[in-house]
Amino acid sequence: MAGPVGRVVRRWYPKALSSSLQVPAFQLHMSETAMRASQKDFEHAMNQMKQLKDPGNEVKLKLYALYKQATEGPCNTPKPGVFDLISKAKWDAWNALGSLPKETARQSYVDLVSGLSSSSDSSQVKPEADSKQPEYETLVVTSEDGITKIMMNRPDKKNAITIKMYGEMILALKSASKDDSAITVLTGNGDYYSSGNDLTNFTDTVPGGLEEKAKNDAILLRNFVGCFIDFPKPLIALVNGPAVGIPVTILGLFDIVYASDRATFHTPFSHLGQSPEGCSSYTFPKIMGPSKAAEMLIFGKKLTAAEACAQGLVTEVFPDSTFQKEVWTRLKAYSKLPPNAMRISKQVIRNGEKEKLHAVNAEESRILQERWLSDECMNAIMNFLTRKAKL
Ligand code: COA
Repeated sequence: MAGPVGRVVRRWYPKALSSSLQVPAFQLHMSETAMRASQKDFEHAMNQMKQLKDPGNEVKLKLYALYKQATEGPCNTPKPGVFDLISKAKWDAWNALGSLPKETARQSYVDLVSGLSSSSDSSQVKPEADSKQPEYETLVVTSEDGITKIMMNRPDKKNAITIKMYGEMILALKSASKDDSAITVLTGNGDYYSSGNDLTNFTDTVPGGLEEKAKNDAILLRNFVGCFIDFPKPLIALVNGPAVGIPVTILGLFDIVYASDRATFHTPFSHLGQSPEGCSSYTFPKIMGPSKAAEMLIFGKKLTAAEACAQGLVTEVFPDSTFQKEVWTRLKAYSKLPPNAMRISKQVIRNGEKEKLHAVNAEESRILQERWLSDECMNAIMNFLTRKAKL
């Protein structure tokens, strides 16, 4: 790829191509003085480009064409084949400049970079709060290489999910759904992926008493699961260790589930006097068949990672010793795929079922609201909370 903009044009999305090719001769309104950009100005603009943040594919294509015209004159290379999308887009952009003189192209390049540079300066005076990631107490959220990673971060409590963590995950998912990343990953810190609902959540009191608390918790649960149903871009679970309860049941709403061979998958709802959530009453029978789903969701059968993979809940299992290295290498490659295409493919796969999933979520939350008030549930929670005192 020749020229200094070759590097930045490399990632190219066909949608930008169609609009960029419709821009006629890049609106070259030149005055006599402006026509005199020197070679030095041109080189300075090329260096400036390297410091600027990514201006988007359309602009990068314009810059490429102007650079080629300024340095080599009118397009003189054979037209690339129709399937070589990137080369063809670049060729088209350069060719569209026709016989534009080299000096004019050089000046246009300098003007375009100077415009980009001043708009990026003005973006730096934006209030800080606009660009700041929200601060989380129970999560670590990072965005790098086109991947937003949401990591549950209560390792000493096996990443049990408190009311606060539910709220923070909702925030983090909403923010990830709008950020620039191509894919989003959920994982856990420490030896567990997550031990599920923090059972001390049940001991919090609210002014309206137990009924009011059950009602509030059911609304929170429904909103939490709703975020997974509606998540607009590829969502990947990295199950780094054992998972219990809701972190297992929502796996049917992820696009990919990678697991360490140390991971286990356990949904002991009956033991706790509770019932399935996370749309698992619908997704599990669909994924693994009704009887395998019943073994997990009614009888609390714990699956190994290999079993969960054989039943379709997990996409692939990796040895724990190489888990992080292997999955991140793969995810970094995936994150370079055209993000709009990935989003749209996900929508095509998932949209038909969204309404059904929201209905299932509403019904599961309603039933759980009742179960949380049952003696069976209260006794099971008391047993867990007092188990150490009994030892
Ligand atoms: N809710 C509240 N606290 C939890 C928890 C949960 N879901 N999971 C783990 N913890 C806490 C433990 O109480 C303990 O806290 P402490 O150190 O203050 O005593 C700490 O995390 C470590 O857990 P511990 O039980 O000592 O570790 P372990 O390796 O012996 O067992 C589990 C781990 C996950 C098997 C066990 O903690 C457990 O069964 N937790 C409940 C899981 C559950 O039923 N989740 C709800 C599903 S619907």
